[in-house]
Amino acid sequence: MNFKGKDIITIKDFSKSEINYVLHYAKKMLPYAKGEKCTKLLEGKVLSSLFFEPSTRTRLSFESAMNRLGGRVIGFADPSATSQKKGETLSDTIRMADSYSDVIVLRHSLEGAAQLAADFADVPVINAGDGSGMHPTQCFLDLFTIETEKKHLEGQKVILLGDLKYGRTVHSLAYALSLFGVDLTFVSPTSLQMPKEIVDECKELGAIPASTTKLEKVIDDADVIYVTRIQRERFPDAEEYNRVVGTYQINKELLTNVKKDMIIMHPLPRLKEIATEVDETEHAVYFKQAFNGVPVRMALLSLVTGVIQ
Ligand code: NCD
Repeated sequence: MNFKGKDIITIKDFSKSEINYVLHYAKKMLPYAKGEKCTKLLEGKVLSSLFFEPSTRTRLSFESAMNRLGGRVIGFADPSATSQKKGETLSDTIRMADSYSDVIVLRHSLEGAAQLAADFADVPVINAGDGSGMHPTQCFLDLFTIETEKKHLEGQKVILLGDLKYGRTVHSLAYALSLFGVDLTFVSPTSLQMPKEIVDECKELGAIPASTTKLEKVIDDADVIYVTRIQRERFPDAEEYNRVVGTYQINKELLTNVKKDMIIMHPLPRLKEIATEVDETEHAVYFKQAFNGVPVRMALLSLVTGVIQ
């Protein structure tokens, strides 16, 4: 398999065997991600890190991945300090980054922004989240986390919980989990259900996702609960946000009868949807999950720059 020059816009750009190939390399990157081993694999390579929307984990783990592989990072985390403030278009900004670097990572509030960037850039573009659209690198690290914690993906009973309408991480993940024969249950308030197009795509891949508003009915049977934040910034109406924000909270009491080895994931940042008392339980893997962004992004950066094949 050769990913040199490949844009990563959506997880749908990858077949099951290509996903497995990335996960295989991510595993190999673990000692480098932890700083136990050193390498200069990406020496001489420059990453443009263009974040038009807030980010902590995605941006820092991309930077950590690049730095630990001996590469360099240029970019911004605050677009108000760039020429966008003077009215420059995204396509012109991308043309510049294209000529300054070997790979571009872009986060933007508009769905489709990453595809537009890819149309203007010769170097590979990696989508680090486009509005409510897709978040493919998060999807890779989510799959990597389930695989490392549960040994395999096939047949796991996975609940996707919370804001399934606006949450881009669950849009990417629902598709990928269907590809891997996972038993899916969507739990959300009625107004924040998984978009029909995504449910249809899951079905086309052979999944039969169940859907409910009642977490307590399904939680005890789950192997994985993937919790999401209600995406306040995507709501057209603040009142609507206030109506749904407190619908679900994972706390110790709710975990009384769950499977002993059930894992709780969250792309983070979490607000109140997981009580901090859950952090000390064996179920909580969300901080490990966030770390997994480093080896996974190391693998992706090395593959799209063609340094490994
Ligand atoms: C997510 C995102 O930005 O979509 N965060 C992340 O990348 N780890 C989830 C969120 O913001 O709720």
